[in-house]
Amino acid sequence: MPLLRDYIAEHERATNFGGEAVRAIDRGDLRRARHLLGETATELASHWQGEETGLFRVMAREEMFAEHIAPLMREHHELAELLATVDISKPEGQQAIRTAMSDLYEHISKEEDGLFPASLTSLSGDEWDAAMDAWHEAHQGRRIIQG
Ligand SMILES: [Fe+2]
Ligand SMILES: [Fe+2]
Repeated sequence: MPLLRDYIAEHERATNFGGEAVRAIDRGDLRRARHLLGETATELASHWQGEETGLFRVMAREEMFAEHIAPLMREHHELAELLATVDISKPEGQQAIRTAMSDLYEHISKEEDGLFPASLTSLSGDEWDAAMDAWHEAHQGRRIIQG
């Protein structure tokens, strides 16, 4: 499913940026770390918009999925808030980023090993169309790569 493949590629880009940011913090290169955290935030903003207004919205119509989706959305908002406000010149801020990046791995595995496979067997054609429309809305000027 091309949409899921794109989401997985976005996860990879976000965790690459985030992981590099942590390594930059570890070696004291805060300028580089700030840049990389900005890239992480940008990648995640369109990714989250696509998930929340598309795939998650159609899946959340089923109560069984809704109860898994609500905490995932909370995690999006918490990480967005942290990335927007964190001060990495302070040790607490640096630690918050390390924790957030390992939490992000867990978040992603709940999607890739749980929700995404479940979507494959539960969404109708119309629901996939709605999920893909939301992805395009969130990624202006880009197309899902088919095939
Ligand atoms: Fe997510
Ligand atoms: Fe995701």
